[in-house]
Amino acid sequence: MRKKIVAGNWKMNKNLEEGHQLTSEVVNMVKDEVTSDVQVVLCTPFVHLNSISKLLAGSKNVMLGAQNCSEHASGAYTGETSVSMLKSVGTQFVIIGHSERREYFGETDALFAKKVDAVLAAGMTPIYCCGEKLEVREANDHIKLVTAQVSEALFHLSADALQKVVIAYEPVWAIGTGKTASSAQAQEMHAEIRAHLAGKYGKNVAEEITIQYGGSVKPDNAVEIFAQPDVDGGLIGGASLKSRDFVDIVKAMK
Ligand code: G3P
Repeated sequence: MRKKIVAGNWKMNKNLEEGHQLTSEVVNMVKDEVTSDVQVVLCTPFVHLNSISKLLAGSKNVMLGAQNCSEHASGAYTGETSVSMLKSVGTQFVIIGHSERREYFGETDALFAKKVDAVLAAGMTPIYCCGEKLEVREANDHIKLVTAQVSEALFHLSADALQKVVIAYEPVWAIGTGKTASSAQAQEMHAEIRAHLAGKYGKNVAEEITIQYGGSVKPDNAVEIFAQPDVDGGLIGGASLKSRDFVDIVKAMK
């Protein structure tokens, strides 16, 4: 049975006090209101990881994530953060390949393959992001591009290693725009990703991979998107910054 995971990507938001407040609210709401076996992940800025890890210590299904990592183990890489540093403060998930890393920092699928390897070697779970820009979809090249992003970053992995990876499909044109993919568009791409995985690793392995949807998920659209057979949760940006909205989205994952 593949895992259901809803992760909040805070991006570059929340100072320490605000982050602690948000975390405490989410932990209490999840404890009181969430009855499913969905896993909840808070992906915070690096500076908050250590202290928020302590706030999550008592929670059984709210876990800690980071938003990036270096592919290097250690050394003269000013400003970077290694997977061993992330692990040492209790990080369990790491977002790799977010479209903003591609767009603003020029990161590539080949680099993401190295970062995925580093996260797995440290015993953490990569959340590997893929997704097309609007012009690619309008050219009807979206399936070709997204499946290539998956192949380039993940197809060097063994079947056992792949089953430790979470994939997040985030159409770039839906991120932060309020323009969500329709549930049919989400399901189409998720099914194509799963079929692509099955072509390489076989149907049984592909069926075990958690594939999240991300891109303007809100409480009023989460139920329909999460009801899709190949949608196994979400990667939530803006709505994760408000505890009520985020937990309502978590509750939409049955
Ligand atoms: O990583 C999640 C993020 O890219 C989605 O952002 O604000 O559209 O939910 P948002």
